[in-house]
Amino acid sequence: MLRSRLRTIKLMQAINQTALDAAVAAVKGAWPEAKPKLGIILGSGWSEAVADFPVKASLFYEQIPNLGKPGVIGHAGQLLCADCSGTELFIFQGRRHGYEGEGWTPIILPIWILKQFGVDVVLLTNASGGIREDLTPGSLMAIEDHINMLGANPLQGPHNSNFGERFPDQTTVYDPGLCQVLVAAGADASGIYVAAAGPTFETPAEVRAFRTLGADVVGMSTVPEAIFANAMGMKVAGLSCVCNRAAGLGHEKLTADDVIRTANEAMPRMRGVLKGFVGEVCS
Ligand code: HPA
Repeated sequence: MLRSRLRTIKLMQAINQTALDAAVAAVKGAWPEAKPKLGIILGSGWSEAVADFPVKASLFYEQIPNLGKPGVIGHAGQLLCADCSGTELFIFQGRRHGYEGEGWTPIILPIWILKQFGVDVVLLTNASGGIREDLTPGSLMAIEDHINMLGANPLQGPHNSNFGERFPDQTTVYDPGLCQVLVAAGADASGIYVAAAGPTFETPAEVRAFRTLGADVVGMSTVPEAIFANAMGMKVAGLSCVCNRAAGLGHEKLTADDVIRTANEAMPRMRGVLKGFVGEVCS
């Protein structure tokens, strides 16, 4: 009983500034000369989609205090400093999720690190279940906007002015120009992402409710990082690989292995869109 109460308290724990500072000190200590222009956070199944960018240096997440190893399949757990025609990128291969129960700090830490290195454009990728009819497995959807159904927000807690205003505007969390760049680079569609808390997949009734609310795909991530990056004035792009029809819309039971398998099948197209996007943003 006491253990589970402590767990709940940790889940709700506000972002820990001291923990963020320690992580930045470690990355700056390892790469004092790095000047990345763009940051990418790779979600489930996306780790190999950056194979076109030569890696100059890498750090395991365990070498970055307070980031911790992603506990989810399909997340490699390395930070790469990579090159795109002379421009540096920081690529986080894997993210932490709310359902891992470690609080907000490890989830938003990649965004904070990027910001401290002067990056002001971030691409967030993820896997999702398709709700809109055209969003069949293997489709790539640029995120136009989100619906936060996590039941929580990373900026809850005492106001820390390092993270922006107390009441950040969210009229354009996802930069419309970057959304267009993703579509021009080969994304099949654009639409609305709803974040559910997980780790369960949704029930068919929840999926019907999300459709009524206006969601096109459903996933378990991305929204906290987007909220945090937007609050700090960064430009955000989001790209989702639709890995299954959402619960109740397809014939199969949902499994994480099937999600990764579909992402692997879509990999050539995921690589192509990332290559086009990064080439355009870094040109
Ligand atoms: N729901 C939530 N997250 C997901 C799904 C889904 O159907 N597919 C891949 N990630």
